[in-house]
Parts: sequence; structure tokens; C-alpha cells
Amino acid sequence: MAIQKRTVGVIGTGNVGVAAAYALFMQQTASDLILLDKDQRRAEGEALDLMHGQTFAGPTRVRVGDYADLAEAQVIVIAAGVGQRPGETRLDLMERNVAVFRAILTELDRHAPTALLVIATNPVDVLTYVAQELSTRPPQRILGTGTMLDTARFRSLLGEHYGVDPRSVHAYILGEHGDTEFPVWSDARIGGLRLVGNTINGRPYDRPALDAIFERTRRSAYDIIERKGYTNLAIGLVIARLVQTILDGQHSVLPVSVRLQGEYGISGVCLSLPGIVSENGLETSILPELDDTELAAMHHSANVLRERIAEALP
Ligand code: LAC
Repeated sequence: MAIQKRTVGVIGTGNVGVAAAYALFMQQTASDLILLDKDQRRAEGEALDLMHGQTFAGPTRVRVGDYADLAEAQVIVIAAGVGQRPGETRLDLMERNVAVFRAILTELDRHAPTALLVIATNPVDVLTYVAQELSTRPPQRILGTGTMLDTARFRSLLGEHYGVDPRSVHAYILGEHGDTEFPVWSDARIGGLRLVGNTINGRPYDRPALDAIFERTRRSAYDIIERKGYTNLAIGLVIARLVQTILDGQHSVLPVSVRLQGEYGISGVCLSLPGIVSENGLETSILPELDDTELAAMHHSANVLRERIAEALP
């Protein structure tokens, strides 16, 4: 018997929640997964389907539970709510998903008041802030997936452009996980060499091509939704990575959505900064030096999100 059960709850077994559960299952991140959905039969089907994969992936136990069962969970993923339809922005989902979150956070504060929360539902920055406001647990224990996915997309496209492993690309997308996100070109590097102004692996510095890569990054969700109707696979891997660094106490630096309390002169909003993430949630944020353009973009993200938060929590 394992010394300590590592239990992860997943609230919402729609496309994103199931992708997260599958990634967690394949990576054997947890000993136990507890799935919750308003459609219990669907959650039961997903749990049975995953359990039948144990002989291939490992002994992670998957079951359907209720909020009382989440009392044993160290980390709880919230992926419940509506997703973008073609043409919808993430911010368009806010009103519907805030209502969902009010109900969820009431139950979680009653049954799992100390669990770390990973927020994936969009608009993730607004909902991370809302969850922090509605919950009694410290804000550092409520993290949004933020621009982890955007940063992954950005590194994947830059890796393709330069012919290198995306894991060897050091480049961040920060700010809103949404239309106002921005690239930190001033510190984007491969092998310690800045992308700006330098030839790398035979590819000369081509600013229009790099700008096009950022635009593809920013539009990725729309491009995928137009084709398959939703996004789920990469965000599922993002969620599994974030849960892993929490459960293992890895202190990884990840661009997660956190509450700003004066960083860059910004307060009263959640958006993505590089954060040191451990078993305690957010340990601290790293504040990269931003040039004037990047700082202005950070403030623009914050202003857009602050307006929506004011609508969500009048
Ligand atoms: C996306 C969703 C997770 O960017 O917002 O694919």
C-alpha cells in the first residue's frame, strides 16, 4: 500500500476535464482520480473507460464521486462550465461560468477547504480571481492555467521555425489567456542567445515571421475551434503538468494565472506571470524585465480583465 494517497479531483468531465483526466492517468501522476460532473452517467462512463486502461498505463484508480469525496483530494481541477463556440471569445463565457463557479466554490469550501485548486475554465483569469474572492482558502492556493498553453503553443511554433526542440525555446506569453496576451520578445532565447537580432541555426532574424508566429499563437484556439469545435488535448496536458509540479513539490517556474498585488504597478486582477509552483501552490512570482511595449501590454491585459471582473463581482 502506498505511503500516501495522491488524490486529484476533476470537476467537469467535458472535453477539457476528460483530456486532463486522461493525461493525469497516462502519466500516473495521482494514485486516485475522482471525477465529478452534473451529468453523473457521463462521469461514470469516463471513469470506467479510463479504468480499463490500467493494464497499459498503471494502477491509478478512477472513480466518480461527490463533493464529500473530494475531502481526500490534495488538488482539485475545475474544468466545469461552457466552452467557446465558433466566433466566441473566452470573455464571452464569463457570465455563464461565474454562476457555475459560485455553486462549485460553496461546495468546495464546505468539503475540501484546504485543497489546492487548479482553474481551467474560461475566462480563466477572471474565474481564478472570482474563485479567490469566493473561497476562504488563501489566493496562493488557487492557480489558473493562464498562459501556460499559449506559452507552449508559442514555443512549439518557434521550435518549428528554428528547427529546434520546443523544450529548448525560452520564450513566454504573459498577461491574459486571451486576446490581449503578449509575447516577451525582449527575453526570448534559444541556447542563451536572444531571438531578436540574431541568426539561430541558420535562420536569420526575421521580425515579420516572428510576429506572424505570435499571431498564430494568439489565434490558436479560434483556429482549432473552427476545425474541431473545441480545444482539449493540449490544455489537458497543461493541467497535468501543473498538477504534477504541485503534487511533487517541484518548484517549477510556470506562467500561471495569479493575483497581482502591486507587481508592475498592477493590483486587483489575476493574469499570468512566471510563478514558482510547489505543494503550497504559488510560492512567488518571477518578474522578468519588460520593455516599454511589453509593460504597456501587461497593463492593457490588466485593464481589460479588471473591467470584466467588475462585471462578474459587482
Ligand atoms: C485554449 C483554451 C483552453 O486556448 O482557452 O485552447
